[in-house]
Amino acid sequence: MERRQMLHIPGPTNIPERILRSLSQPLINHRGPEFEALLSTCAAGLKKVFRTENDILIFPSSGSGALESAIVNLFSPGDTILAVCLGVFSDRMAEIGEKHGLNVIRLTKEWGQAARVEEIEAILAQDQEGKIKAVCLPQNETTSAIGIDVEGISRMMQQMGHGAILVVDAISSLACVPLETDAWGVDVVISASQKGLMLPPGIGLVSVSERAWQRVEQSTMPRWYWDYKAVKDKMTTFQFPYTPATTLLFGLREALEMLNEEGMEKVWERHQLIGQGVRNAVEAMGLTLFSDKEHASDTVTAILMPERVKYKELAELLRTKYDIVIGGGLQKLQGQIFRIGHMGAIHFMDMYAVLGAVEMALVELGYEVELGTAAASLARTFIKK
Ligand SMILES: Cc1ncc(COP(=O)(O)O)c(C=O)c1O
Repeated sequence: MERRQMLHIPGPTNIPERILRSLSQPLINHRGPEFEALLSTCAAGLKKVFRTENDILIFPSSGSGALESAIVNLFSPGDTILAVCLGVFSDRMAEIGEKHGLNVIRLTKEWGQAARVEEIEAILAQDQEGKIKAVCLPQNETTSAIGIDVEGISRMMQQMGHGAILVVDAISSLACVPLETDAWGVDVVISASQKGLMLPPGIGLVSVSERAWQRVEQSTMPRWYWDYKAVKDKMTTFQFPYTPATTLLFGLREALEMLNEEGMEKVWERHQLIGQGVRNAVEAMGLTLFSDKEHASDTVTAILMPERVKYKELAELLRTKYDIVIGGGLQKLQGQIFRIGHMGAIHFMDMYAVLGAVEMALVELGYEVELGTAAASLARTFIKK
């Protein structure tokens, strides 16, 4: 029987029917009045999700494009940045910086470990000459399923009075876990459409603070497509310097409306409880969490492959028999872990299906666990006592 596949890779995520429907409408003129109304609604809705009054720029791009946009707009060749490297995506930010001639100081942690506030503080404290122009870090490193204390780091930087700006990759955390751009004083927040925003891939988003705009003024890096000033200027008249991804903006308007209806606090609570529920159930099944539990991500869970079970067999059984798609380990973690994405349009009941299927598939592949363990554990986490 045909049924809709449950996509539980760590993004792109499941797209709700409402958003799917909003994507199937005829195109409009991207220089006409209907487009102005569309963009102005999206711009206002994004401010509520980013929790900021800062400018939010929209690009027809993937998340990596938005990361690169920050490098080419905020810095000049030879500038020094501190990059917190916890996995593939935070390494990527460092690499983009290096490719553009930046001097990148890497704070590299073992995959599965978080970077602590004190570690960043120690590096900034040594920087007597104030060479470090920015601290770049992921709020959630998707490859290693680790969350970072952005609030703590931002507050520490403000207290120190170090002039570095804070640049946060929130691609797998925006609209999932708390992020208070203005209240915490985060200068640049980078995100993309395909995770918490429940959309297809293809939109990159960047919020830019006043302090960050000053850096844009000073930056000598060449750019055209990514030019923040050009995009901002056009966006003030509800247009773009080039053809925008109009269809995705229809979807964005719908997604922002859905998030607004639920309320950001409720969205965050839902992800937090589901994240906790998944981790509890995984441990109840006798499996081992890959990442440091203290800093566990609430949007993706990484689990060590049990002995004698092969990732490919598990993923294939889940996909073919249960229509559930999970993610594997990237690069050096290939074959060693499996990852379950739980961000965006997820409901408590979805996790019964996903973890129930994982349990059945594992048993079928020879792993020993009493059937029903995952469901009982989820119930214990989700029931309000
Ligand atoms: C934290 C993080 N940063 C960056 C990226 C790269 O985004 P994209 O694949 O849209 O270029 C991803 C993708 O999963 C991500 O999770």
